[in-house]
Amino acid sequence: MRTDIGQVINLADYQPTDFVLERVDLTFELDPENTKVEARLILHRRDGVDKKAPLVLDGDELTLSSLLLDQIDIPPAQYDATPESLTIRDLPEETPFEVCITNYINPTANTQLMGLYRTSGLYSTQCEAEGFRRITYFPDRPDVLAPYTITIIAAKEGNPLLLSNGNFLGGGNYDEGRHFAAWFDPHPKPSYLFALVAGDLGVIEDSFTTMSGREVALKIYVEHGKEPRATYAMDALKRSMKWDEEVFGREYDLDIFMIVAVSDFNMGAMENKGLNVFNDKYVLADPETATDADYANIEAIIAHEYFHNWTGNRITCRDWFQLCLKEGLTVYRDHEFSADQRSRPVKRIAEVRHLKSEQFPEDGGPLAHPVRPTTYREINNFYTTTVYEKGSEVTRMIATLLGKDLFKKGMDLYFDRHDGQAVTIEDFVKCFEEASGRDLGQFSLWYHQAGTPLVTASGTYDAAAKTFSLALEQMVPATPGQSDKKPMHIPLSLALFAEDGNAFEPSSVTGAEFTGGVLHLTERTQTAVFQGIGSRPVVSINRSFSAPINLHFDQSPADLALLARHETDHFARWQALTDLALPNLLKAARDARDGKTIASEKTFVDTLLIAAADESLEPAFRAQALALPSESDMARELGGNNDPDAIHAGRQAVIKQIADAGKDVFAALYDAMTTPGEFSPDAKSAGRRALRNTALTFLSYAENSPARAKAAFDGANNMTDLLQALTILAHRFPDSSEATDALASFRDRFAENALVIDKWFAVQATIPGAGTLDRVVKLMDNPLFKRTNPNRMRALVGTFAFTNPTGFGRADGEGYRFLAREILDIDRRNPQLAARILTSMRSWRALEPVRAEHARAALAEIAQSSELSTDVRDIVERTLKG
Ligand code: TRP
Ligand code: ZN
Repeated sequence: MRTDIGQVINLADYQPTDFVLERVDLTFELDPENTKVEARLILHRRDGVDKKAPLVLDGDELTLSSLLLDQIDIPPAQYDATPESLTIRDLPEETPFEVCITNYINPTANTQLMGLYRTSGLYSTQCEAEGFRRITYFPDRPDVLAPYTITIIAAKEGNPLLLSNGNFLGGGNYDEGRHFAAWFDPHPKPSYLFALVAGDLGVIEDSFTTMSGREVALKIYVEHGKEPRATYAMDALKRSMKWDEEVFGREYDLDIFMIVAVSDFNMGAMENKGLNVFNDKYVLADPETATDADYANIEAIIAHEYFHNWTGNRITCRDWFQLCLKEGLTVYRDHEFSADQRSRPVKRIAEVRHLKSEQFPEDGGPLAHPVRPTTYREINNFYTTTVYEKGSEVTRMIATLLGKDLFKKGMDLYFDRHDGQAVTIEDFVKCFEEASGRDLGQFSLWYHQAGTPLVTASGTYDAAAKTFSLALEQMVPATPGQSDKKPMHIPLSLALFAEDGNAFEPSSVTGAEFTGGVLHLTERTQTAVFQGIGSRPVVSINRSFSAPINLHFDQSPADLALLARHETDHFARWQALTDLALPNLLKAARDARDGKTIASEKTFVDTLLIAAADESLEPAFRAQALALPSESDMARELGGNNDPDAIHAGRQAVIKQIADAGKDVFAALYDAMTTPGEFSPDAKSAGRRALRNTALTFLSYAENSPARAKAAFDGANNMTDLLQALTILAHRFPDSSEATDALASFRDRFAENALVIDKWFAVQATIPGAGTLDRVVKLMDNPLFKRTNPNRMRALVGTFAFTNPTGFGRADGEGYRFLAREILDIDRRNPQLAARILTSMRSWRALEPVRAEHARAALAEIAQSSELSTDVRDIVERTLKG
């Protein structure tokens, strides 16, 4: 592993390369420990570049074996090769030339899972962001695009399958015991989209006929025997291809599209041209082993990677600072896809929950950074929820500001103008400015200013004048490296409701632009005056979460209850229910800390139970409403001096109160929300299961007995129900024989299925309370746990650190010390994974002083190590400093 050298990359230093890459030919002779890589690069000097400028190629842990220029050996004096770079001097001034580089790599020893690696007998690659330079010396940056020809040679034994990007050219026998395959990708691409897979896998095949009538072969490769579990992914792929044609007018552009599922993978999936590589967690599903959430994730990630073919691959990023250009836009596209395939409001609620629980803490802590950063030490650490999810929200705001038609016009212009190019956020935004005639200068601050804006609102009604005035104030908090913020352009979708639940149509609005139901907040303070409002209105602000902000708006429980019943935007109904819940939960946390008795407002409990029983509402919506803000949501809202035990106790007490008050409602729901007949993963059935399992959870509080959950566990015929029953038993009654037996039977039943065993690890890692640390430590010695597998490590250690505030954050600091030890250990094998799990410490400053000091000391212990990767060094130092 390379240890950190403290190099900082700045956007302001961007320069195009001195040499233009025309073509790439790669030949691989695969061997588990000694793979030969031969790279032929055709290059020419860019116009206007100094005739003496050398060619400098990137490397990472490479050893040069031989080097030819136009087929002739280059004298050693003409080049310098180090593990990190290859510099060649005295190259032709004007004519194109060919450099041929040979080197050997060891895929088996590659535990970072970046570059070419081999696990479980399978060769696969991960090149984004800078993994290609671990394969061969190369201009490894996203603005260097070329067509690739790939030849793979390998032993037939064990490697019947030889895959790479593009269209298949041909293959056959090579020499004794070996065969070869050749692939050509005609679409110029950057090196991060290169992929190679070789080994022995099963396949399911299908085909798709594109809008212009071309037939595309579709193949999903999985481990032998797992083929039946890939059919849902195939179905999701075909629906994605169709949707991208219908909604964005985008057609697929090769003869074949392949997906390979691998079990050792650092992230979710990777959009390599024509050859997506997936974490098998996001491909494999059947009713017995996958939850409804798994199905929804598979659908979304299959779509996401497929959509990258246009947003990312055909049009790519000029440099890695522009990562949100492809990721934010592609997340927006997969969100829209899922909304169209499922329920739009329920999908929106899930997105916002996720944004608030993951991105808001990032934006409010030491790791905060703009959607389009200007500096980094390690690009791997910028695959963040800010770049992805806030990046998607920024794209969504452009769509909101422009409206559907102009947004489409802007997207079409973008595809038209920039196809085949590597571009910037400015290029992207310009397309929407030109399509709409709107100035997006102020709006672009969303890309450049970090931090979640806080909007404070207050309303006054003037009965005589029939006007309603809404005073708005915005504040963007200081974030690391950005103390002064400018006011942003914030699109607030807004509606006014009368007491009878009907919406007002204001005759005119002054003080702020108000078009298509969207109020444009552009000043630090601004008062919008709505004319022609016949009675005191109840205002709904930020409907559908039109802007990713925190909103402070004091609304009475009665007003919120009215919105919860009458808002036509169902996201806003959920928001009203959440706004009712939150003060009760926060008060409960404070009362728990102060040893007071805990009691929630009647309006809140009543309104929630009315919504729960309201048959005009989708079951999935009702389940979302009943889910209540999480403990980390509460911690975020409390904002400082947080005691995880008090937060947990307060929330538990509120749940118990709702459960007791709603016992009959929940019992009725539990009986009614069955899904008879054969299992179907569709959104409607999933919603019924979600509501039924929510009812089961509340009943476990009301009845204070594991009996019903035990019966549910024994009777479950799908993983969603089984896992929820197991969770109730393990979390609510951890010491009961019911819990112990269920955990053991679950383990025995699924011991062969690593993805299901991950759920078994995660359920135990999230058992509340200080005792869970010992359990986690013991589980790490379980034969089913494998330290080198990222999914296992995330399921146990990641889940514990990210989602168990009372266990991980126990008062004596043992949880933080445990994490520090593990991070140092993981970092030696897989820096990317270590750095990601370490971000679980990002909110340490919001803890009460005793825990905060334990957390700081654990971070300092990591920082003291002299052998940290760049990845962990970067995260630990920013976390301590910010
Ligand atoms: N581009 C991938 C996506 O669609 C992200 C990704 C996959 C990735 N593997 C990676 C990023 C490894 C960095 C390193 O979101
Ligand atoms: Zn992506």
